[in-house]
Amino acid sequence: MSDAPAPGAPAVAVATGVTRFFRGREHLAFVVAAARRPASAGRRLHFWSAGCATGEEPYSLAMALRADLPASADWRILATDISTLALQAAQRGNYTAAQAAAVPRRYAATAFATRTGPDGDVLRIDDELKRMILFRRLDLGRTPYPVRGAFDTILCRDVMIDFDPRQRAGAVAEFHRLLRRGGHLIVGESEALPGVADRFERSQPSVYRRI
Ligand SMILES: C[S@@+](CC[C@H](N)C(=O)[O-])C[C@H]1O[C@@H](n2cnc3c(N)ncnc32)[C@H](O)[C@@H]1O
Repeated sequence: MSDAPAPGAPAVAVATGVTRFFRGREHLAFVVAAARRPASAGRRLHFWSAGCATGEEPYSLAMALRADLPASADWRILATDISTLALQAAQRGNYTAAQAAAVPRRYAATAFATRTGPDGDVLRIDDELKRMILFRRLDLGRTPYPVRGAFDTILCRDVMIDFDPRQRAGAVAEFHRLLRRGGHLIVGESEALPGVADRFERSQPSVYRRI
């Protein structure tokens, strides 16, 4: 997807796809539930938001992990996208009140610091949450990925839609390589991954457990 904005388009219009805070909330709840036991046992957990767009997905996950796991839980999130403009916006972590309104109240109270600027209020992601996420540019269409595993969960939701069969197969093979055994690959609600039964078993719609 191109990063080139239409002439005169505001930067935000460059965002390369639909995303919003807590989109697919049940996926986030699934990730937190699966993380509870290893987190309580003291193991560091690794998550990857592959195709993170402007940051709403990894920040939502970070909010849920911080609030819903024990305070001692040790976790990190890798967040990648092909779009450098989307990544710049994600790293800035500034959102409008309308965007932030999608964050459930129990998380929103500690997720943002509000700053009033010339154009009104800007909600800026809390620094502690930001520090938990490493943003990097990565093209999921090119394998092998320059990434070290092993991940507990990889979220790759609504990213592979335009991939051709070869790219999709390559991505699935890489996700399998980089996931822990028993870890999960979560794709978009309307996506299916045919032909992966030898490497993944379907835990629930759009959630695949690595064998
Ligand atoms: C519809 S957004 C989904 C954002 C987020 N995963 C979510 O579910 O809210 C799709 C994102 O995938 C990214 N993307 C598309 N092709 C990609 C590729 N080959 N490698 C990495 N990211 C890609 C786009 O730049 C965009 O940010």
